[in-house]
Amino acid sequence: MKVAIIGGGGRVGSCAAYALQLGGIVREIILLDANKATAEGEALDLLHGSAYTADQVIRAGEYADCAAADLVCITAGLRRKPDESRLDLINRNVALFRDIVRQLNEAGLRKDAIVFVVSNPVDILTQLALDDTGLPKNQVIGLGTVLDTSRFCSLIADALELPPTQVRAMILGEHGDTMLPIWSSATVDGVPLTKFPGVTPAFQSQVFARTQKSGAEVISRKGGAGWAVGVGIAEVIHSIALDRRRVLPVSAHVSGLYGINGVCISVPTVVGRTGVIRQYELELWPKEMQGLQTSAKALREVLATVRGK
Ligand code: 2OP
Repeated sequence: MKVAIIGGGGRVGSCAAYALQLGGIVREIILLDANKATAEGEALDLLHGSAYTADQVIRAGEYADCAAADLVCITAGLRRKPDESRLDLINRNVALFRDIVRQLNEAGLRKDAIVFVVSNPVDILTQLALDDTGLPKNQVIGLGTVLDTSRFCSLIADALELPPTQVRAMILGEHGDTMLPIWSSATVDGVPLTKFPGVTPAFQSQVFARTQKSGAEVISRKGGAGWAVGVGIAEVIHSIALDRRRVLPVSAHVSGLYGINGVCISVPTVVGRTGVIRQYELELWPKEMQGLQTSAKALREVLATVRGK
């Protein structure tokens, strides 16, 4: 599978490329960036390690290369300031993002291409990518709360001294301030997490609060996320490349599930070779359902503002 990463010269894009290289599953990784030199530098640095990693083509490229790409991942965008919400970022990133999609359209995206949005605010930009590319809904996805879910599981495991790969606890909704924890289906190797020793209401609110603030916590220390968002991106791309049909909380257009319409938001989604295979409507606790609908409402309000511009 040929993957083009727009923003590949930046921290998120280059970490995603590194995760794809270590995975050794996609055939070709093309890095594009407004700063051509950084795209070339990252591609070269990755290429230099390919003798010990995987048999792939790794190179810097141009928008023309996206015409033949199976998947175009967009990580380009300005980063949040530590005290800035992802939605505050919207004014600075929408124009930049829509110009990227315009250039993609001009380059001639394949009709069966998948567009995978990571740039923030990811739920809003995923909907704009859907609007502006005209691709079918299943082919335009956003990273959504995939990273938040990984952070949530990892922080729970770290606090309880459990193996992180056995902790399964979803974050759904907006990749942002209105994201919400789904404790009703959280487990440790199949055992309900809410029944696990140490999982008190205080622990639950503390670990969720830390998850919500993790992006800002990393930004304040190192300027922005890289490694975790890179592996989250690779998890989604590998589920597409291998048609693994993993259930992942990617952001995609929702039409009716959970009483939600007309926005891209993270719900449990089967991700395969054609993008969104299916979205699941799980039985949630009343407060979880309420939280998801509140999240969708917040996104709809921002989307209306952005579209109204
Ligand atoms: C984060 O939460 C990059 O939005 C991403 O760190």
